[in-house]
Amino acid sequence: MWQDPEIGRRAVLRGALGVLAAGAFGSCDGSGSPGKSRLVGPHSEAVRAAERLRRAPEQRVVTRKITARESVVDLGGRTVRTWTYDDALPGPGLRTRAGDLLRVELTNDLPHETSIHWHGLALSNDMDGVPGLTQDPIGAGSRFVYEFTTTDPGTYFFHPHTGVQLDRGLYGVLIVDDPDEPGDYDQEWVVVLDDWIDGTGRTPDDVLDRLAASMGHGGMMGQTMHSPLLGSAGDVDYPLYLVNGRTPRAPVTLTGRPGQRARIRIVNAGSDTAFRVALGGHRLTVTHSDGFPVTPVATDALLIGMGERYDVIVDLADGVFPLVAQAEGKSGAGLALVRTGAGAAPSTGTTVRELDRRVLLGTDLAVADSARLGSRRIDRNLEAVLGGGMMSYRWTINGAAFPDSDPLTVTQGERVRLHVRNTSMMFHPMHLHGHTFALAGSGVRKDTVVVRPHQSLEVDLQADNPGQWALHCHNVYHAETGMMTVLSYRR
Ligand code: C2O
Ligand code: CU
Repeated sequence: MWQDPEIGRRAVLRGALGVLAAGAFGSCDGSGSPGKSRLVGPHSEAVRAAERLRRAPEQRVVTRKITARESVVDLGGRTVRTWTYDDALPGPGLRTRAGDLLRVELTNDLPHETSIHWHGLALSNDMDGVPGLTQDPIGAGSRFVYEFTTTDPGTYFFHPHTGVQLDRGLYGVLIVDDPDEPGDYDQEWVVVLDDWIDGTGRTPDDVLDRLAASMGHGGMMGQTMHSPLLGSAGDVDYPLYLVNGRTPRAPVTLTGRPGQRARIRIVNAGSDTAFRVALGGHRLTVTHSDGFPVTPVATDALLIGMGERYDVIVDLADGVFPLVAQAEGKSGAGLALVRTGAGAAPSTGTTVRELDRRVLLGTDLAVADSARLGSRRIDRNLEAVLGGGMMSYRWTINGAAFPDSDPLTVTQGERVRLHVRNTSMMFHPMHLHGHTFALAGSGVRKDTVVVRPHQSLEVDLQADNPGQWALHCHNVYHAETGMMTVLSYRR
């Protein structure tokens, strides 16, 4: 652990979804001399005070143990050696009620250091799981106890923040229940989407090496992956796409009865793939985005970027229906089956007409009244210009690749507007840790927003969770090659 409440320039890191190198804070931190603005570090009093405010006297505690280890997993027709939590894919599901304390002891039996990041949660900064920024890496063979209050209800997930480990099998879903929610549904299904390569002859680290070496050859597979919605749709053409850890050859079946309402919590745990999701013969009514309520809207299909989560409600018809997650702009799809009656399962290559009808993006939604951030005068404007490309595989924020980028600094209590401008040919699902921002205009609350090629958008946030927070693209290969910076609280 850091001995010093301030993160110093002695911080040493490697890798981006988890790396901070010396110098990351250099330019704005002056010499660290008293009188200049100082970092609010993960172990500072301000961070402790923020967590104290979240804790109630009679707080319920949910305790779990998780082991990260190498394991052999049957994906359905294909067995792979990979890295998992508790030998499961997806990893164990965690569930709390809003206000509960979650205590997870992670044992690292991987041959490599790791950490767990709790994606989407406004949690205590020292528990955010970014090695080099909020904690020391958890070495092979050692343990770490995560302990934090789960404040906001919603659908979240967790994954490592070290190198490209996210593109192995290390992910699981965390649901925070809302005790005040009516729960107007009969079935609840969790659907986790993933693009898969590990154990098929290449590891994610091999993929990263190939991309980094590809210099001008247009990506590892030498082909263009294009989407009318997203432009350049990805850098990696995966051999497999999974729903709940299964290939379309042996899909999971979600079972209900005709006439029931099902709530489906959909998580994109992929590393380089947006998914276009539809359920044959049904419309999806979107109720939540990244855990927070939206004005419900019905759609045929939904586009889900990496790191995004959507909750949808469906009124179940009678029969067997394919839930298809088409890899946007790529060839291939993930599949699950929804079964409410008799009938033969659709064949493997199934596609559904709904995929080609109305496709909704997060930026098409409107906030629900209960989730409004509320308007306030903007105290500070920040800019994040997204750049880079395949020519030399390097992705940047404000012209610099992490850790050479300047942090974006804020002071606790400020209302901040972040102007995001994508100057590249590729979409970037931009994710901010520790906060749920509001999209300027629609007010939709999100922690991950898909920014299309050459699109500009603004997001507003209340700087009410002190600490050092990663802001990065949730394409793990983009983040790892530079598209990351830090929202840095100073005082
Ligand atoms: Cu899910 Cu910093 O990421
Ligand atoms: Cu990106």
